Amino acid sequence: MKKIIIAIDGFSSCGKSTLAKALAKALNYGFVDSGAMYRAVTLFLIENRISVQNIAAIEQALNEIQIRFQAGSTGNRTYLNGVDVEDKIRSMQVSELVSPVAAIPIVRRAMVRQQQEMGTEKGIVMDGRDIGTVVFPDAELKIFVTADPEVRAHRRFLELQQKGQEVALEEVRNNLSERDHIDSTRADSPLKQAEDALVLDNTDLNQEEQLQVALDWAQERIQAQVL
Ligand code: DC
Repeated sequence: MKKIIIAIDGFSSCGKSTLAKALAKALNYGFVDSGAMYRAVTLFLIENRISVQNIAAIEQALNEIQIRFQAGSTGNRTYLNGVDVEDKIRSMQVSELVSPVAAIPIVRRAMVRQQQEMGTEKGIVMDGRDIGTVVFPDAELKIFVTADPEVRAHRRFLELQQKGQEVALEEVRNNLSERDHIDSTRADSPLKQAEDALVLDNTDLNQEEQLQVALDWAQERIQAQVL
């Protein structure tokens, strides 16, 4: 069976990674959360006190940053220079700075190059903001995920609470709307729906239901490859 590339894009906290992970598992494909890469770069800049304005220092930092993913007992973990940073990159401190970092063209160029390398063998599900438009414009299946903003804020709030992070719903709501704004209005590869993307609104769907919709689309595209 020929393998395909599945690109999943959409706004913050609309369940892209959950869907991408489940889809990859069902198809026995690789899964890449591209947002984790921008988050890892952001963490590196915070820990090394490098300002988002200091482009020369960021360029230097990009040479020193090595990001990889490794499956662990609690799911896929992100490693920054050999250290498991999966929990740290999900903190509000990183969430608050990641969109400005992801808007910097040299950061995007470095991440996109690595993401494209991960897809050379196909058989991959990658989620992010520019996967169907920039990283894999020829992906066989592109899904644009959306959900009601209030539903998204509640989901993220519950997720952070479950991880024991003390945040107010209002703070989460503001962070999401701020990130959506920066991500969709930045000059370099802004978040937008690819013309040939299929839209999946999961406001009223549970995780199994949204997986089923996406899985049907994927099977259809995979079968089309064989013909
Ligand atoms: O998916 P996420 O919320 O973990 O992504 C974190 C940030 O990274 C998000 O605000 C925008 C940015 N991002 C991006 O610009 N391009 C991608 N392909 C993935 C994420």
